[in-house]
Order: sequence, then C-alpha cells, then structure tokens
Amino acid sequence: MLGIIGGSGLTQLANLDVSHREIVRTPYGEPSGPLTFGRVGCQDVVFLARHGYGHTIPPHLVNYRANMHALEASGVTQVVSVASVGSIRSDFGPGSLVVPHQIIDYTWGREMTFQSGNDGPVVHVDFTEPYDAAVRKLLLDVALRVGEKIFDSAVYATTQGPRLETAAEIDRLERDGADIVGMTGMPEAGLARELDMPYAALCVVSNWAAGRADSAHGIKFDSLEAVLHLAMARVRRIIEGICEA
Ligand code: HPA
Repeated sequence: MLGIIGGSGLTQLANLDVSHREIVRTPYGEPSGPLTFGRVGCQDVVFLARHGYGHTIPPHLVNYRANMHALEASGVTQVVSVASVGSIRSDFGPGSLVVPHQIIDYTWGREMTFQSGNDGPVVHVDFTEPYDAAVRKLLLDVALRVGEKIFDSAVYATTQGPRLETAAEIDRLERDGADIVGMTGMPEAGLARELDMPYAALCVVSNWAAGRADSAHGIKFDSLEAVLHLAMARVRRIIEGICEA
C-alpha cells in the first residue's frame, strides 16, 4: 500500500475517497494525527498530514519516528513524501516540482533513529542513495505521462527551522552543493531507510531561498500560499496517476 505524507499546502488529499481514519499509537508516541485510509483512483493509500491536520506542528517538533512507525505498522510498503522547499538554484523557480536524489542533513536535536541502544547490536544502515530508486522512477514516469513538468534531481538541504535561513546560510548551502532547502527531509528519509521502507520525496518549490531573486531582501509570505495552492493541484494529479502506472 502507498503511504503519502503531506506537508505544508497538502494537509488533505481532495481526491482521496476516504474509507476510515485510525488513531495509531506507537512505542515512540503519537503520530502527527490519525491516519486516513482510502483510495485515490484505483490505488489504496494511507495519508498522513506531517504537521497535523490543522497545521499546528512545527518541523522540529514533528514526531517523525511515530509517523514512520505508524505507516509501516499499517501495511504501507512505499512512501511518497510531499514537501515544500525553497529554491537555491536559478532554474527551479517557485511552483517547480522536484524529485531530489540526495540529502544533506543540517538538523540537530531531533529523534532521528529507531536504535535506542538497548535492543541488540548496533546497525549502520547504508544511506549512500537516500531515496529509493524505484519510487523516484515511479514519480518521474507518472509526471511525464500526465504531462507535468518535473525536475529529476536535486540535492535537498534539511535545515532545522522553524525560522527561515539567512542569506549567508543559503550561500553556504549552495557551496555545499545544495539545490533546494526544506525543514522536514530528515530524519524522515533516514527513518524510512532504517525500516527498509522504499521512500522518495516530491518537492514543491514555494519560494526563492533567502537572498535569492525575489527573496533578495526577504521572503514574502503572501505570494507563497498562492504558489503552493496551484502547485499542489499538480501534485494531486501526479498522485492520482500513480495508480494508473
Ligand atoms: N527554507 C526552508 N524551508 C522551506 C523554505 C525555505 O526557504 N521554503 C519552504 N520550506
């Protein structure tokens, strides 16, 4: 079953034919909200709003472990994580859709592993390629088929938030090789790997990163909502298309 984690701008899936909702408890506490089960087109899906259905949980306080554990316990076999990001690269303007291929993790102080240190030998999971190749390909193939332009690679820098970055921080991320910046990519992707759950991200560029283009003198929040709204309609079309693959 396909699990979809919705980020800012996607707290609900309008095209989800809901069968039921479930409050799931996990050894790691409660997920961001009840899991919503249903169908999109011909595919069974489970949807979870990363920041809660009322968008009340900031990125550094999301219980990523509970979210991923709950999805796995509910029979999810692959995850598409939808997330809004800022763009560092001049060719990814606001409204662009991007499927990143790499991550750099700048977060700190988050519960980032299922390894508590009390249950068996230490395991080092391979994370050379942080995203699952098959799920990435699925997203790219579907986007092509439904006619949605999408960028097929990017390095995603995960910052701690909840504040946005300074212009100098963005310059540093660019020097590090990052193309896009968001606050939720990690530890989510790492936890999915620990669970051996195929996982890929579908990112929506909501704004130029701090100090870039339109954001040269600050990020304007009024246009951000409108950009996200339009782009999420395209995200929904891609998700709907997955089941036709
Ligand atoms: N920075 C970090 N996270 C974000 C941004 C940004 O500019 N836009 C959306 N999420």
